[in-house]
Amino acid sequence: MAKVTVRHLAEMKERGEKIPMITAYDYTTAVIADAAEIPVVLVGDSLGMVVLGHESTIPVTLEDVIHHTKMVARGNRNSLIVADLPFMTYQIDEGQSLRNAARLLQEGGAHTVKLEGGEKVASTVRRIVDCDIPVMGHIGVTPQSVNAFGGYRVRGRSAEQARQILRDALALEAAGAYAVVLELVPAPLSRVITERLSIPTIGIGAGPECDGQVQVLHDMLGLFTDFVPRHAKQYAHLGQTIKEAFAQYSIEVRNGSFPTENQSFSMDETILSELDGI
Ligand code: KIV
Repeated sequence: MAKVTVRHLAEMKERGEKIPMITAYDYTTAVIADAAEIPVVLVGDSLGMVVLGHESTIPVTLEDVIHHTKMVARGNRNSLIVADLPFMTYQIDEGQSLRNAARLLQEGGAHTVKLEGGEKVASTVRRIVDCDIPVMGHIGVTPQSVNAFGGYRVRGRSAEQARQILRDALALEAAGAYAVVLELVPAPLSRVITERLSIPTIGIGAGPECDGQVQVLHDMLGLFTDFVPRHAKQYAHLGQTIKEAFAQYSIEVRNGSFPTENQSFSMDETILSELDGI
């Protein structure tokens, strides 16, 4: 895969070619995403839940995202790397938003940033884009608003919400965003937004007619065994596989069948006699 840029995503939409995107938070998965020719990798603030063990994305800091973006940037040469601006790193004032966006590129090694919100953040998006930092928007369910929304329920079923989500999408496009994530939006509304926008829409729980799809790595790999979000498809069951591997390892260590000669290193045993007396 040749190095992917924001221009490629615009061309993919024009050609009607779908855009796959996944999250990654470390070097190893970033290398694998590159090898699998995933065009867009997101260092999402979902890392707060799936990596750091928080209950929501609210506690995630800019330093957390920079730290994980560095790992991803070291491992991935060809995907477009998008890094999330965490909660309260772009709401206070535009100067600070710009500085924080720049840190994700300069220190983290991201190529673009993503932030949540539509009309309310449009002027911030414009300010960042004017400094040549490409911005991906994120509307519908915006997890950083969990306390205001009171949960993660689908948004856009009522006429009022649907109108607002369309207005948000248009505002982001007008502000210069190069793509927009639609999260937990009814499929028919996503279709209308996708038709109305010239920039790509990337869906998560937003139906098949978005220009692209994004999935959280841990969801798609089945790393969590107790909860599978309705919008996720498990392409593997690594949580179960890892659990079985750990359990087998534990049995073998306990019963002495690991390690064997294959995992051990020999030496000239006469040397051991020279250890006598030490
Ligand atoms: O943080 C994240 O993983 C995201 C995706 C769900 C789009 O924002």
